[in-house]
Order: sequence, then structure tokens, then C-alpha cells
Amino acid sequence: MNDKKAPGIYWGEYESVSNVDKAHFEAFKRQSPADIEKACRDENGRLRHIINAEHFDLEFLTTICETAKAARRIDDGNREFLGKLLRGRGSINLFKQPSSRTWASFSRAAGILGMQTVDIKDVSTSSEVKGESEKDSLRTLSSYGDALVCRHPSDEYDLFGLWVQKSSGREIPFINAGSGTKRHPTQGILDYYTINESFKGNIDGKVVAFVGDCLRGRTVHSLAKILALHKNITAYFVAPEGLQIDKETEEYIDTRGVMVHKETNSLRRVMPLADVVYMTRVQSEHGGSGDYNENFKFTMDSLDSMREGAILMHPGPKRDEIAPEIDYLKGDQRVMYWRQQRNGMWTRVALLAHVLGVDDKIREAYKEYAKIGLDRK
Ligand code: NCD
Repeated sequence: MNDKKAPGIYWGEYESVSNVDKAHFEAFKRQSPADIEKACRDENGRLRHIINAEHFDLEFLTTICETAKAARRIDDGNREFLGKLLRGRGSINLFKQPSSRTWASFSRAAGILGMQTVDIKDVSTSSEVKGESEKDSLRTLSSYGDALVCRHPSDEYDLFGLWVQKSSGREIPFINAGSGTKRHPTQGILDYYTINESFKGNIDGKVVAFVGDCLRGRTVHSLAKILALHKNITAYFVAPEGLQIDKETEEYIDTRGVMVHKETNSLRRVMPLADVVYMTRVQSEHGGSGDYNENFKFTMDSLDSMREGAILMHPGPKRDEIAPEIDYLKGDQRVMYWRQQRNGMWTRVALLAHVLGVDDKIREAYKEYAKIGLDRK
């Protein structure tokens, strides 16, 4: 595949300046992965910067799931409660790649918690066109808010965002909303929540089929790494040879006990084995045509060969990899991708509440609700 050159970080117009900045960033990157992870945590070990799914553990994920569930139930009856939690605080959403779901759900999540949002998607109007470096513009933007949510095409942007915070003197939580081809930790959280809800917390032993662009689909990498926290997971990577799972992710999950299988011919054989079928689009912005191999499409017939209780997921945006008729099967419990999208908003409410330290208030309030019978289910 003729890959396009990966877009990098813009260091500004003047070498005399960019050389200094780059040298500092290079020194920051020389830290061990353990030190980088430590830099993402506060003095109590709580994750404050969300840059990489490898930093998650089951305790963190369970807490996020509980907070998300509590928030959506509270919202049914007492919208004002959530809206007071972070009233007046600011969330800065800077998206330098196209986004509908992640951006809108983060923006709404902040609003549900009472935050104001600054949404920047059209970077042609930013001061970077005047030669300002991304470091300076990110530092400027963070000085107006209490949390930063950023998406960027560079594979290094997770570390870059963390570095800007660490070197700024006014550190606010940095959330990676998708960087390069490798990391999409918050999509991993919402996918995990969706799987956790679907199987009522019983994830150990599940069989997951990742279908499509396993090489460049960052959602695949993040979710596979998260699921590796569970016991006896089997992962099928269903993709043509050229889009098969990358070595780094394969080794990471293999070392953690995931049974890895690669299927390069067709989805058909794997369908009856999977508890989760996770479809993805071909990431043609990184090169290649983007056309989907017919053998890997999810058809109406695929539904019939699904395992009892299995679910069909897709991080979106979808193109033609799932038969369009499936969208019209109202109430079909197997079709999970629309609910998955809505789950994104609630898990992002939980995540913002977590990094800004009000998540326990949501869980406590829900317990009170449950006592007086105001919870729904
Ligand atoms: C994904 C992404 O941006 O990586 N979208 C999303 O956030 N739901 C998947 C994709 O673009 O295919």
C-alpha cells in the first residue's frame, strides 16, 4: 500500500525557535514508559491525563463504567444535579482531524456537567497560519480552560499534549481524542462500556472479531489492549494481509494472554465463533483506495450465523461494510452500534467528571437515588 507520509506536528516558522522546542520534547520523550505513565497520574495515583489505553486498569474502567451508568440514570430524573457539578469550568475541544461522534459527544458531555466549551475544528482560522507553533497555540488554549480534548493526525500527539501540559506551569487534564493510527483511548472506554453492559460484566473468556482495517484503525488497537486486561480473551483479526494487525499490538496482547488468530480470507468462518463482531472502515486517509473487500462485509446473512447473545459493533463512521438494511431492524439486541455511539456521550461525562474530580459525587448521588427508589432499573 502506498502510504501517505504521516502528518507531523507543526513547530512554527523559525528554526531558531523550533530547534529549542524540539530538543525539549525529545528529552521528554526519552523518559521510560513507566515514567510517562507516572506523569499522567496525580500524587494519589489517579489518572489525570488520558493519553494511552495502556495506562488503564480494570479498577479504573469499572469506576468509569459505574459513573457513566449513574450519570445517565440520574439524568433521567434530575438533570440539574449533573449541570451544577462543573458549572463555570471550561473544556477546550481542539480537533485537527474530521470528527462527528467524538467531538459532539465530548462537547455534549461537558455541557451535561455544566461546563462551557470552546470548540475549534477549523484550524485555518487559528494563529498557526500566522506562524505560531502548535506548542504555543496549545499552551495558549489550555490557559483558558480546565480540560483539553484534542484530536490530531500525528502518532506523537499523545506525548506532545502531555509534554505541553507538563512544561506549562498550569497543568490541566489532557485527553487524547484520537491520535495518529495508534491511539484512541476514549473510544476504547466507550467500547469497553458497551461490551461490559452487553455481557453484564462477564467479559473473561469472550471471543472478539476485529474486522476491517486492523493495521491503521486506532480504535482496534485501543480496544484490543483494554480487553487484554481480562482473562482468556480470544481475538480474531479479520482483514486482508495488507491490513492485518500490527506487530506491536499483537505482541502486547499476546504477552498478556490473549489468544491471537489472524483470518485473511473471509469473515464467514469467524462469524459463528465471535461474541463481539467489531467492524471498522478502511482508513483510506492513510493511503490505499478505501474499498472494502466483499468477503469481509457484514451482510444480512451474517446476522443469522451470529452466536447466541453476540453483538455487532462499529466505532463509526461506517460506509458500506455493514449491510444498510441492518439499520432498520428495530429493537434487534444484536445490533449494538447505535447504542454504542450514545454510550460515548455518557462515558465521556464519566471521564470528564473523573479527571476533574467530581465522579464520586455522581456515584454517591446515584446511591441515594437508589435508596429512595428513584433509579429506574
Ligand atoms: C474513529 C477514529 O477517528 O479513529 N472514529 C471515531 O472516533 N469513532 C474511527 C474511524 O475514523 O474510522
